[in-house]
Amino acid sequence: MSLLDKIDTKNIPSHIAIIMDGNGRWAKERGLDRTDGHQEGVVAVRRIVEAASRAGINFLTVYAFSTENWNRPNKEVEALMELMVYAIVKETPDLIKQGVRLLVIGDSNRLPTKTRAALDNCINETANGTTITLILALSYSSKWEITEALRNMLNDIQSKRLRVDDLNEKTLSNYLTTKGIPDPDLLIRTGGEKRISNFLLWQLAYAELYFTNVFWPDFDAEHLYQAILDFQCRERRFGKTSEQIEKEQKE
Ligand code: IPE
Ligand code: IPE
Ligand code: MG
Repeated sequence: MSLLDKIDTKNIPSHIAIIMDGNGRWAKERGLDRTDGHQEGVVAVRRIVEAASRAGINFLTVYAFSTENWNRPNKEVEALMELMVYAIVKETPDLIKQGVRLLVIGDSNRLPTKTRAALDNCINETANGTTITLILALSYSSKWEITEALRNMLNDIQSKRLRVDDLNEKTLSNYLTTKGIPDPDLLIRTGGEKRISNFLLWQLAYAELYFTNVFWPDFDAEHLYQAILDFQCRERRFGKTSEQIEKEQKE
């Protein structure tokens, strides 16, 4: 029996964000190259998109490459960029078939032309997907995103497209790369570390956090369902009291 059958279909997180960590250590444990770990990581992405879609998740954001990851050895960065092109091109027909819509967030100016072209093509070809939205965070960091948002906002204020008085949380959200996407309800980090690593700092304000020691290449559908079940045991109070939440649920 799959844990999927135990999930309460009335309390599914609409948006799950994942920090896919542990590819390097997974490879090292097996005496393989770090790149082999990343390759196996792509297989896991494919598996988890399908599993999430089966569970009725609407949005899945995966942290594939951070701004800080540009500081890794050239050889690893180049291999990752190559792998990205290969995987995207190979997977596009299947993504279309599964009804997956791909979006990408991050500083695409830093990506190699080939990687950008492959992504743009996949974004266009999957634009009509309605089953699940897969958001790839690539060359992404939250501090970069917030700085860009501020720059664009200040420009708009200067050119009188935005009034300082109109600034509120909603306006600021609309300057982020995640504009129009609901905030994640659940954040999963694989690989054992308990940190956010510059990921969606604004958007994760009220997400439930779930950490697991499982390395990303080993993460499977049942692990995902376990995380969703754990999420379903949490009481999300959003600053209110337990009694208020119980009363609201009865109404
Ligand atoms: C996550 O795995 C993938 C990327 C950051 C690209 P790591 O490569 O960070 O794996 P570990 O943490 O070294 O095991
Ligand atoms: C976070 O993993 C970034 C991605 C998963 C893409 P890292 O392995 O780069 O994070 P740190 O350096 O351990 O915080
Ligand atoms: Mg890591």
